[in-house]
Amino acid sequence: MTESSSITALSQYGNDFPAANVSGKRILITGGASGIGAASAKVLANRGARVIIADLASEAGQAIAKEASEHQKDMVFHKVDVADKDSVNALFAFAMQQFGGLDVVINNAGIDHKPKPMHELSDDDFDRNIAVNLKGVWHCMRAALACMLKEGVAGKPGHVINVASVAGLRSSPMISAYSAAKHGVMGLTKSAAIEYAKANIRFNAVCPSFIDTPMVQNTLSQLDERGQKAIVKASPLRRLGKVEEISGAVAWLCSDESSFMNGHALTLDGGMLA
Ligand SMILES: NC(=O)c1ccc[n+]([C@@H]2O[C@H](COP(=O)([O-])OP(=O)(O)OC[C@H]3O[C@@H](n4cnc5c(N)ncnc54)[C@H](O)[C@@H]3O)[C@@H](O)[C@H]2O)c1
Repeated sequence: MTESSSITALSQYGNDFPAANVSGKRILITGGASGIGAASAKVLANRGARVIIADLASEAGQAIAKEASEHQKDMVFHKVDVADKDSVNALFAFAMQQFGGLDVVINNAGIDHKPKPMHELSDDDFDRNIAVNLKGVWHCMRAALACMLKEGVAGKPGHVINVASVAGLRSSPMISAYSAAKHGVMGLTKSAAIEYAKANIRFNAVCPSFIDTPMVQNTLSQLDERGQKAIVKASPLRRLGKVEEISGAVAWLCSDESSFMNGHALTLDGGMLA
């Protein structure tokens, strides 16, 4: 097809490519005060979703929600420590009070650890990674289920999106605790996808490679030039991903267009795992 005939063919359908529709969806996102979470919260609110951003970082989270409100977007902040069960339960009680239900929960809060070979990794590093990156996700999945099951049984779909990592599918040297936690997130995602499909609740994971966020900038600052180049060139596209390249996919997942996707790991890695 020549360029002009393809333009003609498109014009028969109108040149309208609407963004994935999330208007009116009630969405809670953890780790929404920075990086991938903040970018996703902004895209979702811009497209008309009602968004709760939850994070340990109150000041940054409040500033993002305030800016959104000033632009007439529906976004509120609530403080949470995902590693603390009571804090998570309080967050979901707040969400129910705010929205009366939840359509989508995005478990994105996470931490890394200083790159180290396994035999040098401290108990503290290991325990904290599991507590936030794995048990934190589990706390939120369980709380999300408690909210969504009532509506799911009544026919309203629910969707939980876990932000895992390519390190949850294949590891790299020096990140064993992080990788163990992210592999665990994949296990939780797949188990829940099978268990709760009959209740109309789906579970999917997003698996980014290195994305330009404060977390990755912090890692880069701890490496020499050779290490930094290795990270930047880990993807065949030979660059870090941008947060917008993740948040756009997250927004699509939040829309009804993803309705037959369940138990999937959406890899966004510039071809790293190809
Ligand atoms: N940036 C990457 O290259 C990359 C790649 C793959 C996966 N991920 C994952 O994406 C998610 C977001 O990462 P990011 O790069 O945007 O990082 P980031 O550091 O910019 O943001 C993470 C957010 O999580 C919050 N957080 C940390 N611990 C918390 C806790 N206990 N309770 C509540 N909030 C907490 C932080 O305050 C921060 O706002 C993480 O789960 C991370 O593992 C990131």
